[in-house]
Amino acid sequence: MRYSDNAKRFGGMGDDAWEIHRRAWVKEAAGEPVIVLSAGEERSATTPPAIVAAAKQALDAGRHHYSPLTGSDALKAAVAARHLALTGQRVTPDSCCILAGAQNALYSVLVCLAGVGDEVIVPEPYYATYPGVCRAGGATMVTVPCDPEADFVVDPERIAAAITPNSRVILLNSPNNPTGAIYPKAVLEAIADLAKKHDLWVVSDEVYADFVYDATHVAIGALPGMADRTVTLGSMSKAYRMSGWRVGWMVANPTLAGIITDMASCTLYGIPPFIQDAALAALIDETGEIESDRASMLADYRARRDLVCEHLANIPGLTLRYPAAGMFVMVDVRGTGLDDFTYAARLLDEENVGVMTGTAFGPSAIGHIRLGLVASQEKLVEACTRIRRFTLSLAA
Ligand SMILES: Cc1ncc(COP(=O)(O)O)c(C=O)c1O
Repeated sequence: MRYSDNAKRFGGMGDDAWEIHRRAWVKEAAGEPVIVLSAGEERSATTPPAIVAAAKQALDAGRHHYSPLTGSDALKAAVAARHLALTGQRVTPDSCCILAGAQNALYSVLVCLAGVGDEVIVPEPYYATYPGVCRAGGATMVTVPCDPEADFVVDPERIAAAITPNSRVILLNSPNNPTGAIYPKAVLEAIADLAKKHDLWVVSDEVYADFVYDATHVAIGALPGMADRTVTLGSMSKAYRMSGWRVGWMVANPTLAGIITDMASCTLYGIPPFIQDAALAALIDETGEIESDRASMLADYRARRDLVCEHLANIPGLTLRYPAAGMFVMVDVRGTGLDDFTYAARLLDEENVGVMTGTAFGPSAIGHIRLGLVASQEKLVEACTRIRRFTLSLAA
């Protein structure tokens, strides 16, 4: 059978890089005492009960039908309010599209902004699905390396050097997965100037905007003159522990929101109304219960970050990249003499700790492993103990 050129664009999203992750799950399913830190979520933590209750109530109330293509007016208004709280940028509900997670938003937006012959500039290390979403509409991803020694913060001059007449979009992710980098205001201002000068879009993936420890999150869309050319992506997955519910959004100018809504009439056809009701209950949070749950989750993540950094400091052969934000810690393992894949594979085999290899995220992350802060403090300390023992055994 023959498949279209479009079909060919979806494969090859760093499949090899996920191998250790898959092997960790297999071991866990077989009952081995594995600590899986390769995922982007904590499997044992569930969605706050008040959100689950709102979904059940909506199901009981008959919210089973088709819904508006990119979200109910009430949910769009709540997302506009959340966007204002996170970014300081005031937007109208008709600038917001509710989609099936930030991943669906990434795909929808990039297909609408960059087609065949166009280029999307992406700092790397990047989130592992970016190559696929950049290619989806036929565009080429042009990567810009970030130095581990500069805490993986992108240098705007490198972005400037990557701009060509074919450039259409700069795709940013601050706070960053995998690196935990957060771009300072001056860096974002320099990138904003480039976008304005060369008439480029900025797609800003801000799904980790709540997970900020040592810095301030600056939203590029809120900078002067950027509202019209910036698309900001957000999600319920991380901050509300709702990854499996598939609710996220994009905020852009109303024209692009209209285009994405037209697209949704061919693809998504609206996310389920009972899920929209649950997301609305989470954002409105009438009793304050959800906000206090969220605050304690974020405090716990900060404590996890501190613990992991404390326990992995001063291990010969490892160089810790202290994350200012996000849900992950990057560790440079090159000092052990092993490449990241071998290190991660042996760590899993010999000590039952599953981590991601840097290879998944682009060449700047080669030689690094990524640990998710996605287990209890106790388990993370145990994982660090195993990592220390394994690394010291290599030196011996
Ligand atoms: C940087 C980044 N963007 C987007 C996503 C997708 O998020 P969602 O669950 O909202 O689709 C993730 C998920 O891990 C992510 O890390």
